[in-house]
Amino acid sequence: MRILRILICGAGVLVALSAAVFAGTGPHTLGSVSSVTALENGIRILTTSGGTEEITALRDDVVRVRASTGASLPEDASWAVLEKSRTASVPVTPENTAVTVGFRTQSLHIEIDRKTLCLTVRNLDGRILQQDAQPLRLEDSAFRIAEAMPADEHYYGLGDKTGPTDRRGRAFSLWNTDAYHFQESTDPLYKSIPFFMSFRAGTAVGVFLDNTFRSSFDFGAESATSYSFGAADGPVDYYIFPEPAPRAVLETYAWLTGKPPLAPRWSLGFQQSRYTYTPESRLMEIADRLRADRIPADALYLDIDFQDRNRPFTINTKDFANLGEALAKLHTMNFHVVAITDLHIAHAPDQNYAPYDSGVAGDQFVHNPDGSVFVGPVWPGPAVFPDFTRTQTRAWWGTLYKDFIALGFDGFWNDMNEPSIFKTPTSTMPLDVVHRIDEPGFRTRTAPHAEIHNVFGMENSRATYEGLLKLEPNTRPFVLTRASYAGGQRYAATWTGDNTSTWNHLRESGPQLKSLGLSGFGYSGADVGGFAGTATADLLTKWLEVGAFEPIDRDHTEKGTGDQEPWVGGSEQEDIRRRFIEARYRLMPYLYTLAEETSRTGIPMMRPLFLDYPEAATDKHPMDNDVDNEFLLGHDLLVAPSPFPDTPDAYSVEFPTAEWFDYWTGERVEPAPRNPHPDPNAPRSPAELVPLATDVHPTLDALPVYVRGGAILALQPLVQSTQETPHGPLELHVYAGSDCRGSLYTDDGSSFAYKRGEYLRQSFTCFVTAECLTIQLSAREGSYTPWWKEIRVVVYGWQPRHGTVRMDGATNPKVERVGNTVLFTIPASSAAATLEIE
Ligand code: NOJ
Repeated sequence: MRILRILICGAGVLVALSAAVFAGTGPHTLGSVSSVTALENGIRILTTSGGTEEITALRDDVVRVRASTGASLPEDASWAVLEKSRTASVPVTPENTAVTVGFRTQSLHIEIDRKTLCLTVRNLDGRILQQDAQPLRLEDSAFRIAEAMPADEHYYGLGDKTGPTDRRGRAFSLWNTDAYHFQESTDPLYKSIPFFMSFRAGTAVGVFLDNTFRSSFDFGAESATSYSFGAADGPVDYYIFPEPAPRAVLETYAWLTGKPPLAPRWSLGFQQSRYTYTPESRLMEIADRLRADRIPADALYLDIDFQDRNRPFTINTKDFANLGEALAKLHTMNFHVVAITDLHIAHAPDQNYAPYDSGVAGDQFVHNPDGSVFVGPVWPGPAVFPDFTRTQTRAWWGTLYKDFIALGFDGFWNDMNEPSIFKTPTSTMPLDVVHRIDEPGFRTRTAPHAEIHNVFGMENSRATYEGLLKLEPNTRPFVLTRASYAGGQRYAATWTGDNTSTWNHLRESGPQLKSLGLSGFGYSGADVGGFAGTATADLLTKWLEVGAFEPIDRDHTEKGTGDQEPWVGGSEQEDIRRRFIEARYRLMPYLYTLAEETSRTGIPMMRPLFLDYPEAATDKHPMDNDVDNEFLLGHDLLVAPSPFPDTPDAYSVEFPTAEWFDYWTGERVEPAPRNPHPDPNAPRSPAELVPLATDVHPTLDALPVYVRGGAILALQPLVQSTQETPHGPLELHVYAGSDCRGSLYTDDGSSFAYKRGEYLRQSFTCFVTAECLTIQLSAREGSYTPWWKEIRVVVYGWQPRHGTVRMDGATNPKVERVGNTVLFTIPASSAAATLEIE
């Protein structure tokens, strides 16, 4: 035993730790710089302990850090990072001093302390963006990285964690877990997304730890001055990407790990589910009632009881005797139907159960260390588990969907894929279960469950997504997954698992979905109404109101709970709920435009305020920390459910900028500065005007929603399903204000024809003076012919003097004034147009 002295980076304080130095049995570091090799895109360091550290630049703003205790680095492969990004590289300029080694890119200085190996990242002005607080700590197979934690820095990400979106002050584990009726303090949950963003005074830094083992993140729970992250095993391999703004961090994260594919439009409609609509006649009753009560809806779900003895890819023909006909009928009623297809294949030898038989024939199932097939109990009883880390197993899994596609199912739901296993102390597979990796980019090898656990669900949803694409190459697959890992957004939408029918869970769902959006999952939802337990009528109403403004709007509940459809609780409640679902359908052009933005940029549909308004607070702290109940749906809608929804208490809504309209009335909001100036007549700078707040007195039938002054929103006439062609004009709602703009994207909503140019993209701007409002419509891009022939323009917050409109200097559509709005209709055209209203 020797005494190891660990330097605290920067401060230069010596801390003595008792350890067997570098023997791998106690805490140790990699020592100091022994030699440095300049690489074209970075540096490789050999350390005094015989270890290696490599820091390379993938782009000028993205560096990758890898380290190992030996002379070579671990396998360079990733489930999360796209090959083309992982292998990207930019030339760097070496920068060495007596104290540090490092390099410069076009936007960053990277310095490694020669003595401690501590890393400092600076911008070109020399400002520290990130700095190790301690040298990399290693102990047995585990490692930990500690970073300095400035007092005003905030941390966001890690996927579907509960609690406030700012992770500061708390610690989290990442280990995919079936967390039935999780609570606010439950951790870990279903997904593992080892990505976070630090945000400080308007500057954001993305950090992605690409390690699939159990990992943990501590944002100041243990220390008041440093935060740390690490994993129980696996490679030290992480990416740092400082950006001028939080949005750019998400775009870079999407560059690294991919974007969600464009969702089929029907998946943005209202979805009704329960565990399980049985028998078939009950499913049809639900469909009939939705249509009879004129509650717009697009999707119905079949949960596990539609299967024979809970066996995936079978049908319970007793209760679902004519499922094919039922699906055909539902299609004529403009419904899509999503079927659950869990990954646990029943262990049913000699029973003509094709998924088991073909799986065994192809050796597709995960093994025990002794080579036998691992069997664990789940819904079907004893079950076996596909080895999804093999390309050929994923291809085989994909073929299982053939009959279900032929039968008429439209989407698939991959549940229980943490994987959840019953009757075991850990609720999952033993850590030594053997997975085989047979995958381009990876060395062909076996891997223990400890390594694969966190990517198992993602590879399950990947197998489904890719299988569906193969079966129907021109149809956008819809896959909903419960478990996933970083990059899983490439294959599936997600939901937050088994929440509860409580007011607290309604409150929780907002921050949780904001966090998923900040972690790559731009299409996500929580079970509306709550899964475990029966929602009271008021809770269901409120939840349906809020859900109408979230990316995935799916009402779902557990077996044995009370009914949870929109009509439950009487017509008064139903009328309110219908109104909100209708609002969602009226907003469908805006929603779909956002969905396309998400698929193109990685920016989520539902966002924390600081993402779009990072400079809103005068001291540049993230606004969401004060109002985590609020969220943005796209750039232009601010939704503000109550922070304590179970009480009738008034609450304050804060706005990130000065100009907002009430979405429901079209009236300008007259917010007051939260911190009034002592002299009400004193001139104030715009910065002093925010945050602006307005008081809300909540009622059951209302949800505060606001529109940015300067927004141009596209709406459509009400339909009962996204399959229905709207009758009437497209509507452009123009909210007079500064930075006046909007955009519209549409296509056929279901195929990949958009990739061949069959889409429509158009942008709008407006310019306001006291005399004239000028609205410009760009020429349409793309060859898609939309349903609308006319555009109805509705102007809020501005009144013309004369009531005339000139279109390209000529036509004179009739202007109506209705209440506080000005309306007129113009013919739709693919050419650019300028409208002048006076
Ligand atoms: C667990 C899922 O989280 C839930 O949504 C589903 O209803 C049940 N499994 C039954 O399949």
